[in-house]
Amino acid sequence: MAGAGISTPSGIPDFRSPGSGLYHNLQRYDLPYAEAIFDMDFFHQNPNPFFALAKELYPGKYRPNMTHYFVRLLHKKSQLLRMYTQNIDGLERLAGIPPQMLVEAHGTFATATCTVCWSKYDGEKLRPDVMSGRVPKCSTCKGVVKPDIVFFGEELPPYFLKYLTDFPLADLLIVMGTSLEVEPFASLADAARGSVTRLLINRDLVGPFAWRRRPHDVVQLGDVVDGVRALVDALGWTREVEALVAAGAEKAAAKTEE
Ligand code: APR
Repeated sequence: MAGAGISTPSGIPDFRSPGSGLYHNLQRYDLPYAEAIFDMDFFHQNPNPFFALAKELYPGKYRPNMTHYFVRLLHKKSQLLRMYTQNIDGLERLAGIPPQMLVEAHGTFATATCTVCWSKYDGEKLRPDVMSGRVPKCSTCKGVVKPDIVFFGEELPPYFLKYLTDFPLADLLIVMGTSLEVEPFASLADAARGSVTRLLINRDLVGPFAWRRRPHDVVQLGDVVDGVRALVDALGWTREVEALVAAGAEKAAAKTEE
């Protein structure tokens, strides 16, 4: 289970860290309250703040970090059952984690939907408008096209229900970089069986790790990359994960030269 805290090492602000979190830096968007940026009613009145954020977060600007490549290595070693992420930065796909191994619970910029006629769009089609600050319009009905990011009050994607079979099967749950403040995602932490170890790698104690600790829970507080590095060292996987990080950086450099 992951949240915005796994992407801060890549340079993307999280939502709630005091001072640096996105919700503390939205003044320039002139919002009635921070979460309005993900509120459908507000979006229909004024889509500009969301699209200004989309321009900031649109895939391509940031690179995955060791945390993302660690999950890719878990998959490579057939140890990954699924990665549940709240993040919309797309860094999991960019790190090479196959989409079928991902549940992007709060949606993705990879696809978009017209808010009037429900026509589907590839996220890349919206890039020119988003990058030049224009609100993307549907080619069929001229309605506003919204990336498939889950707004507050909206249904989570149907594949979120995979948790009903994934969590009872899991024999280890790793929770990284999330405040576990947003439902229903946060409650997944309690969906693991009681006998299963739950490992929190996070700057601070959150959710059940703070107030409903289980006997097998393990907590590694501090920076997420430091925590992942300690785990990877203990597993003897340091060389392999560093090779993935280096290959990812090389691919990014080659792409920039294109
Ligand atoms: N190392 C370790 N922990 C970190 C780091 C880091 N480098 N950076 C941030 N964190 C921790 C923060 O201390 C916090 O506990 O990660 C957590 C991030 O919490 P939030 O900012 O609340 O992000 P997240 O949990 O993903 O928010 C959930 O809220 O608004 C919605 O849809 C939005 O998906 C988002 C959801």
